Amino acid sequence: ISSTKTVDERLKNICELLESEIPHYNWVGFYFKNGDKNELKLGPYVGEPTDHTIIPFGKGICGQVAVSNKNFVVPDVAAQDNYIACSITVKAEIVIPIFVNGENIGQIDIDSNTPDPFTEADERFLEFVCEKVATIL
Ligand code: SME
Repeated sequence: ISSTKTVDERLKNICELLESEIPHYNWVGFYFKNGDKNELKLGPYVGEPTDHTIIPFGKGICGQVAVSNKNFVVPDVAAQDNYIACSITVKAEIVIPIFVNGENIGQIDIDSNTPDPFTEADERFLEFVCEKVATIL
């Protein structure tokens, strides 16, 4: 089946679906490695606009996942010292890397206004989403 939608439109649709259907997902977005620079660039997202459209590798939760290649679940953002705050309403965050041919090329980033809302079910579900996303990039 062919589609006239662009990749960014499809990614935005995924953000909209996740944000609208899952009550504890309040900001949903994608960051991708920015060319050959050691930084992430914000892609499609849903939620409050953020100033953090570029995040250096190693900085914040997202930047740490860019170098660790591992899921990062933060039950309480206030307890993190290497954290980039986007909104004072955010209590928790989950970041799951996206792999293409074994390479970490970006991530899905989800903020929650609910404290400690993310379970292993969120991790497994979002890993599945990221695997599907990898196939449309
Ligand atoms: N909190 C993230 C920054 C991105 S915003 O959540 C949209 C971090 O610490 O990397």
